Amino acid sequence: METENLKNLLQITFPNGEYGESFITSVTTSKHYKILSKYSDETLASVCVLLTPATDEWEVIVIATHPNFQGQGNASTLIKKAIILAKENNIKKLHLEVSEKNQTAISFYKKHNFNQVGKRKDYYKKGEHAVLFAHVFPNL
Ligand SMILES: CC(C)(COP(=O)(O)OP(=O)(O)OC[C@H]1O[C@@H](n2cnc3c(N)ncnc32)[C@H](O)[C@@H]1OP(=O)(O)O)[C@@H](O)C(=O)NCCC(=O)NCCS
Repeated sequence: METENLKNLLQITFPNGEYGESFITSVTTSKHYKILSKYSDETLASVCVLLTPATDEWEVIVIATHPNFQGQGNASTLIKKAIILAKENNIKKLHLEVSEKNQTAISFYKKHNFNQVGKRKDYYKKGEHAVLFAHVFPNL
């Protein structure tokens, strides 16, 4: 995936600049991240960035769909891929945090069987609380 495409998509979906140059550099160069992407023709429609350290827990760092391609199942395709990939790597828990104000994302994660496991008060700069979600894989 072109770094420039990732940068453009994150700029459009997070206009307050939450994910800047240093984030893009880290996730595209470090072996501890995996980037799942979905294109529609030539356009990067959706992206999911995973932090994949050598432990049994991975984290969804960000998932984003270009506004022109939202509501079409694009992010669902990527989160399902992330869950399959985590399972294949014997991961026990896929976790993430999201602003409690981001009800779209909260509905999205709940739909994909993430359950709330905690809350961090005043976590974000704007004083918003973070909700912690996890998708826990059953012991086989
Ligand atoms: C959250 C986000 C990634 C969803 O992407 P998407 O490709 O539109 O998602 P999908 O089409 O796969 O939607 C799947 C489910 O998510 C939920 N959802 C998606 N958009 C929604 C909306 N506008 N309102 C409420 N629920 C919504 C629904 O449960 C939906 O299922 P349904 O279509 O059966 O109703 C997208 O809205 C986005 O990029 N938002 C901006 C970035 C962001 O906030 N990312 C999450 C925090 S990291």
